[in-house]
Amino acid sequence: MQFDIVTIFPGMFASVLDSSILKRAAEKGKLLVKIHNLRDYAEGRHQNTDDTPYGGGAGMVMKVEPIVKCLKAVEKKKKGFKILLTPAGKTFDQAMAKKLAKKKNIILVCGHYEGFDRRVADYVDEEVSIGDYVLTGGEIPAMAIVDAVTRLLPGVLGNAESIKNESFMENLLDYPHYTRPAVFKGKKVPEVLLSGNHALIEAWRKEEALKLTKKIRPDLLKSTAKKEVRKLEGV
Ligand code: ADE
Repeated sequence: MQFDIVTIFPGMFASVLDSSILKRAAEKGKLLVKIHNLRDYAEGRHQNTDDTPYGGGAGMVMKVEPIVKCLKAVEKKKKGFKILLTPAGKTFDQAMAKKLAKKKNIILVCGHYEGFDRRVADYVDEEVSIGDYVLTGGEIPAMAIVDAVTRLLPGVLGNAESIKNESFMENLLDYPHYTRPAVFKGKKVPEVLLSGNHALIEAWRKEEALKLTKKIRPDLLKSTAKKEVRKLEGV
């Protein structure tokens, strides 16, 4: 999988790409990330990538020409699925991560300031937000997408970290996990986990995942088929 990232802050990516699983994925040849400095595609003495908004108002707007020029240069080498990172985009979730993991090349365009010249949208395939909050730029969202997609690529996670794809885990929060000590400041690990009875443990985990989801993210269950929820509840 190749990611091309278009940014005015190319220095932000190194530590994330050089650590942990992303680093290992790159070493294994599963991930290649190329960073493109948008400023290299901007004209004029100051190489401005932004300008004041037509119609007035606060803040600056990212110019269309440098982005289009940069995308053209990137795609001359390798075509890709182009994503514009913006809080006004479609919300990124695990289902989108799975879809993106099937692609070979993805181009991520990071925005800044008040947003993009609207015409930029005509040059990308999708506008994506990582959540309903506003960050200072699209770099952290781009890293989140690279991370979430890369861990889904075959051979990236080891056995121990492997992706849970049991159907009952879809649309549910994860079940609670525990490790040693069995008692911490009087707080005990649930007895069932020490029982060695795998069927009982699995049933307990399903129940706890469902309980947690109902309490913290009931919205997730709305998108789960009623039949599936009844099965989870053991009804
Ligand atoms: N840029 C600023 N905030 C963002 C968000 N939540 N998602 C994607 N890009 C952004």
